[in-house]
Amino acid sequence: MADDVFLADADFEAYRKLIYNESGIHFTATNRSILESRLKERLREKGNPSMRAYFETISRDKEELKSFLDSITTNLTRFFRNQAHFDALEHFVIPELLKIKQGSGSNTLKIWSAGCSTGEEPYTIAMLLSEILPAPWKYEIVASDISLKCLMTAKDAFYAESRIVGIPDNYLKKYFNKVEGGYKVRPELMSRIRFDYHNLKNDSGLRNLDIVFCRNVIIYFDEAAQTAVMNRFWDSMASKSFMFIGHSESLFGMNTKFEFVKTQWATLYRKYI
Ligand SMILES: C[S@@+](CC[C@H](N)C(=O)[O-])C[C@H]1O[C@@H](n2cnc3c(N)ncnc32)[C@H](O)[C@@H]1O
Repeated sequence: MADDVFLADADFEAYRKLIYNESGIHFTATNRSILESRLKERLREKGNPSMRAYFETISRDKEELKSFLDSITTNLTRFFRNQAHFDALEHFVIPELLKIKQGSGSNTLKIWSAGCSTGEEPYTIAMLLSEILPAPWKYEIVASDISLKCLMTAKDAFYAESRIVGIPDNYLKKYFNKVEGGYKVRPELMSRIRFDYHNLKNDSGLRNLDIVFCRNVIIYFDEAAQTAVMNRFWDSMASKSFMFIGHSESLFGMNTKFEFVKTQWATLYRKYI
């Protein structure tokens, strides 16, 4: 029975290697118990196959592998998470970008929310940019995640009462409709974001982005995977562009070309060539 299963050392090694190779997510001895409990849950959902049998399944069945990876992700997020980042976006990044792009022939800012979870981050960016961008500036947001369940919630854009904390009242009134049990993002705002499945271990094909948000995602990767992801972001970004990572994350000591920027609101990174 799944309740009795014990993740033997050899199984732990096999699972953690597969997870790492497929997603960059790095389970260590310290967070082994998290993997074990999520795996038990998944095995229960699948009718309690053995650890070994399930490992064989995910090794050959790409769809089941996707569902498994989904089940081991941590998706905690909220609207306006780390307000200081949004202050830096409003008061530093946007004014800089408008200067940089003035006369470039393009009046559209391209933004990527990578590891967007259930959508709170890209909807926050969209609300803020809708408020502050002067005409004729426009924005486009791509938001991606490895979790299909999260992407479904994000696309559905319904948030229970308990999840709308942090949204200023005027934004709530302007960008959401009150529905039974919670709030639904208005279609105009929803239409500004394209949600896509994307695994950060692969190249996204996105290019010329002006701003990347990848917050509280690389914290689950080891340094090699973090560096690889950051270098892929570099390739997807425009020559003068900005990158936000989580406030407890850092590129310090990592082999990337990003420049560290300290603003009075928050720290961030930029590609400035
Ligand atoms: C803790 S949430 C962060 C959400 C949001 N960025 C924030 O800061 O509130 C981390 C998200 O990263 C996603 N993630 C983890 N590994 C990933 C990968 N290899 N590719 C794409 N997304 C990944 C998870 O599915 C999860 O939804």
